[in-house]
Amino acid sequence: MNAIVLLGPPGAGKGTVSDVLIARGYNHISTGNLLREQIRLETPLGLQARERMDRGSFVPDDVVVGMIREVMAASDGSQKFLFDGFPRTLIQAQMLEKLMVEVNGEVKQVVLLDCPDHVIIDRLVGRRTCGKCGSVYHVTFNPPSQGNVCDVEGCELSQRADDTEETVRKRLAVYQQRTEPLIAYYKEKNLIVTINANQSIAEVRADVSDALGVDAL
Ligand code: AP5
Repeated sequence: MNAIVLLGPPGAGKGTVSDVLIARGYNHISTGNLLREQIRLETPLGLQARERMDRGSFVPDDVVVGMIREVMAASDGSQKFLFDGFPRTLIQAQMLEKLMVEVNGEVKQVVLLDCPDHVIIDRLVGRRTCGKCGSVYHVTFNPPSQGNVCDVEGCELSQRADDTEETVRKRLAVYQQRTEPLIAYYKEKNLIVTINANQSIAEVRADVSDALGVDAL
């Protein structure tokens, strides 16, 4: 069981670019999506996570690692994982390393999506999401074909509660303080490949494909 990690600030395009690897058989595990599913189901975990997520703080490491452990335990061992938004702290990265050792796997590559703060704010404030299928759009950069309606489900799109400018600025500060140290951590292990995420969606996807190479895919 091997894994690729998508690292980068909120709104860098981790979810958007993940299609490239999903199409090549990677099992996309977004801790943000897993947590939002818990909120939707109104589980105790979801109720605990909601308040933190809405104000742009992190959910505790043990909660997030517990979710990942469950996902990995349910896999048949032959799957390739694409972790999106996980790990986000040094503790999570160390825990992931231990989990991978337990399943005789390893993190093969860490894709860092690099994007300036002002671009991120525009992207997140304009993001719209389908509550049914999770499709992600942008009012300007990636609009749906018709109005504010999902191309797949035909239902009204919504804005995430944490996508206000104020909360995005808070999320960026938390990223700098708690997640950026992972760049040095993975550089030390020679696993980082940095992608310029301040390009069109097509260009970012192409760069990710090129950087990972056919073998990794
Ligand atoms: P999560 O859902 O993971 O949010 P995030 O990391 O903040 O990332 P986003 O989903 O906001 O952005 P993205 O990089 O996927 O960008 P996207 O592709 O959507 O986490 C939410 C919260 O959950 C956290 O704040 C925390 O509270 C909690 N949490 C999650 N994981 C955790 C963990 N491991 N530990 C602790 N807490 C955790 O793109 C954004 C927009 O830009 C879209 O509208 C898209 O259409 C557009 N776009 C994308 N690429 C481009 C491009 N190249 N050009 C123009 N527009 C683009």
